[in-house]
Amino acid sequence: MGLKEKLHQNKLSGKALLATNFYNFETISAVLTAARETNSELILQLSESSIHYMGLDVATALARAAISQFGVKAWLHLDHGQDTTLVKRCIDAGFDSVMIDASEKSFSDNIKITKEIVDYAARYDINVEAELGYISKLGQEQKMIYTRPEEAKTFVEATGINALAVAVGSAHGFYKKAPRLQLDLIGEINKATDAALVLHGSSGIPDDQLQGAIKKGITKINLATEIKNAFMKSLQGVLKDTDNIDLREIFPKATSAATELVSNKLKTVNF
Ligand code: 13P
Ligand code: ZN
Ligand code: NA
Repeated sequence: MGLKEKLHQNKLSGKALLATNFYNFETISAVLTAARETNSELILQLSESSIHYMGLDVATALARAAISQFGVKAWLHLDHGQDTTLVKRCIDAGFDSVMIDASEKSFSDNIKITKEIVDYAARYDINVEAELGYISKLGQEQKMIYTRPEEAKTFVEATGINALAVAVGSAHGFYKKAPRLQLDLIGEINKATDAALVLHGSSGIPDDQLQGAIKKGITKINLATEIKNAFMKSLQGVLKDTDNIDLREIFPKATSAATELVSNKLKTVNF
């Protein structure tokens, strides 16, 4: 089933998929092992910077080969595409889904840029996600322009997107102040539009709020920072106590730490 249809089903049934970012072989192994262990489906996401790090050909081939080797149902998605040329290259490379993120532009430019990608993607019938309102990015001050239900309705109708990233109290990265998701706002946006709603910035959000958000209509939960954190903190700990230079013996310890984190998150999301 295509991701577009799957997210639409989720909207009707009140379920969500976990969408995990990966950066290399170790982190894709970590998330796919977690999915296999918990019998879960999931979305694999690449940011523009991860594509630049690995190269589009390697990143795409790695994802496809790993999905097949691990025997997991997973979809490949471009996360926060801001460069429309790269977004179109990902579409042509066979991604199941792309996000066009023009959320920092004006409302009318956001519509125009998003619609250009929806039109381009139409020939493949893939999932297209866009963002309305503003979810602060890593390293930015954590402030928020909340998504307004009426604007969301207009935006979804004008662009033809089927998935919408909403600004409802989350932010990318860890939180300086404990987050408080606006659950009623999620419900209102969900009723106002036909789009499947996406929660960004899920690292640092307590499990009960994630589940509350799913009950109100979130169909995709984006997780990145906690995965990097679990992997790197574990790796840093291991490296302190060893001079073993065989990376094939050292990296798996960090991979396991990331697997454990994602397994728990999958249990939370698939409750
Ligand atoms: P976190 O880094 O807070 O988990 O956010 C991830 C995200 O929204 C990726 O698009
Ligand atoms: Zn995001
Ligand atoms: Na976060």
